[in-house]
Amino acid sequence: MLLRHPSQYRLRLLEDLFRTLGLPVIILYSLLTLLEWRLGKLTFIAYPTLILIWASTRGSYESFRQRRAAQKLQASLIPQVVGKWPGNLDILLKMMSTIKTSYIQDAYLQLFKEHQSTTLNLRILWRDNIITMDQEHIKFLSATGFHHFWRGCAQKERLELFLGKGIFNRDDEAWKMHRNIARPFFARERFSDFDVFERHCSHTLSVLASHNNPTTPLDAQDLYGRFSLDAASEFLFGKSLDTLFGTLPIAGRSRLGPKGSLVEDSWGSFAQAFEMAQVNATIRGQIGSIWPLFELLKDKNEEHCKIIHEWLDPLVRSSLEQKRKRKMANIQSPISEKNFLEHLSESTDDSVLIRDQLLNMLLASRDTTSSTLTYITYFLALYPDVARRLRAEVLEQCGSRDAPTFEQLKSLKYMRAVINETLRLYPPVPLNIRETRESACALPPCDPTNFNRSSWYMPARTTIMYLPLLTHRNPSLWGEDADQFNPERWIEPSRVALFVSNPTMFTPFSAGPRVCLGQNYAYNQLSYFMVRLLQKYDRFTLAPEAQPAGSLPPASWKSGAGRQAEEKIWPAASMTLYVKGGLWIRYHRATS
Ligand code: HEM
Ligand SMILES: *[C@@H]1O[C@H](CO)[C@@H](O)[C@H](O)[C@H]1NC(C)=O
Ligand SMILES: *[C@@H]1O[C@H](CO)[C@@H](O)[C@H](O)[C@H]1NC(C)=O
Ligand SMILES: *[C@@H]1O[C@H](CO)[C@@H](O)[C@H](O)[C@H]1NC(C)=O
Repeated sequence: MLLRHPSQYRLRLLEDLFRTLGLPVIILYSLLTLLEWRLGKLTFIAYPTLILIWASTRGSYESFRQRRAAQKLQASLIPQVVGKWPGNLDILLKMMSTIKTSYIQDAYLQLFKEHQSTTLNLRILWRDNIITMDQEHIKFLSATGFHHFWRGCAQKERLELFLGKGIFNRDDEAWKMHRNIARPFFARERFSDFDVFERHCSHTLSVLASHNNPTTPLDAQDLYGRFSLDAASEFLFGKSLDTLFGTLPIAGRSRLGPKGSLVEDSWGSFAQAFEMAQVNATIRGQIGSIWPLFELLKDKNEEHCKIIHEWLDPLVRSSLEQKRKRKMANIQSPISEKNFLEHLSESTDDSVLIRDQLLNMLLASRDTTSSTLTYITYFLALYPDVARRLRAEVLEQCGSRDAPTFEQLKSLKYMRAVINETLRLYPPVPLNIRETRESACALPPCDPTNFNRSSWYMPARTTIMYLPLLTHRNPSLWGEDADQFNPERWIEPSRVALFVSNPTMFTPFSAGPRVCLGQNYAYNQLSYFMVRLLQKYDRFTLAPEAQPAGSLPPASWKSGAGRQAEEKIWPAASMTLYVKGGLWIRYHRATS
């Protein structure tokens, strides 16, 4: 099959439309003209009918072909969701309508429960469309069967303008090159990282302190988003965006923004463009393969990407310029003293490649970190006992004033347990997508929680969406209390043994060759921040009255199963997880 460049998505749509609509229309038209039949008013029914018949015949033929191919692989077909309307259109419409108000990934969970299977084929519009929450299948596509899959065409099309040639948007050689260049940068803890953490933690704490009326709540998510953007930009480009010095959203006056509360100050241009581009890309994913139909004349991310590029390009140019100067003067600096941009500039002169890679790294590190900090704070507010115990550990190991050292951070056992338990219930990347390559493969039997023990036929060139958030909350893997926040499960030896014997039941950082490169960096940054925060603050309380209108959990969740019945905030995702409307919190200063 011809491989088109991902930026040619309009051409691809045209081809798709021709195959599903154009061909039957041409056939019918030729037949009618040839036989000189006149259908009169019936013509208006004949065309749509033929299009439907054509689509479902192709669908049936495809199923037949797959059944034969599956037999050869000694695999069964993945259980199919069977809707009431042709092409499972009712399922699609139902999902589109509930997605706005239902609990995160609940629509998928209901389907898994209904069909008693942890992997399903949605087969929307006669197209295979696999979803899975199965631990064995996630392990297969990310690790043991890695070579059968890639990020794929559909995903690249949606993200090409935004993420370009960066690590998240490439496969094979281009991806390997990125990974090889980036790896040494993360190979060990770099001393200078702690300086960066300290500078921006201290900014964050001074924002908190200057917000000196403890009865007024703050949007923690907005604050952490600024902290992690400032820290990430300094670590990556050597220049902080200094968003912590901007104007914060005000309690009671804030409105709903693209993700959290709407930010109305000027720092926003870069950050807002960055968020909008993510939101727009996610919407494309929800619309499905026909998304270019809504962007025929103008790519909706064009403006956002222009802002992002205008901001990054001068930094890249100046870095390349400095490289030339260093070369002329024959100066070499060790990797431990370089920022990521300097490190990248050593490897190439391609300024677009460097810019794209920077942007991908910013996405990788910024939103994930701030999402985790937000949900940790949420839990500390819900469970004051956990906050007390965590703070006691911090004071005992690190004291109440000084910046923590690397060794001290490593000794914080309970901190790790709290972070892991947060990443389990709220993995910052709650869903992800892969595509099979040119040939079909067999998925191994489902995890033992699924009653069906055959291996399953995974068709070629087909997307598979996997949902670690649901795997992380599967009671068959985690026990009856799977939905409960309980850091003890990372400490009690019997429960730890369960995880150690089966590590892929917990994959917030993914697994296999594309496992997160920044995992250690993330644990360091998260613990560093929490130490600095807990040295000064000991209690956190939710402020539901400050949440912008429309961001509190809907009443219908009360009767739902799992976490939704007791949820105090609205978890939502667009590429990464966030709290709808922000997390409004009162920070209480410690007196001892
Ligand atoms: C709590 C924090 C974090 C979480 C939960 C997280 C999670 C993930 C996940 C799930 C992936 C796989 C994405 C995919 O394959 O589609 C990933 C990849 C990646 N992460 Fe992280 N991440 C975190 C922090 C960071 C940080 C701080 C950095 C860098 C400073 C980073 C750098 C990367 C990179 C470069 C990749 C791409 C790896 C590849 O495609 O080969 N991450 N991360
Ligand atoms: C497993 O599922 C496949 C496909 O849905 C079905 O054909 C097969 O009979 C099932 N096997 C068992 C043991 O239920
Ligand atoms: C996407 O981007 C456009 C501008 O480029 C913006 O106007 C729009 O609100 C964004 N979201 C959607 C859903 O189109
Ligand atoms: C937390 O999870 C990581 C995997 O991300 C694991 O290596 C580590 O052992 C866990 N820590 C604790 C305290 O359970």
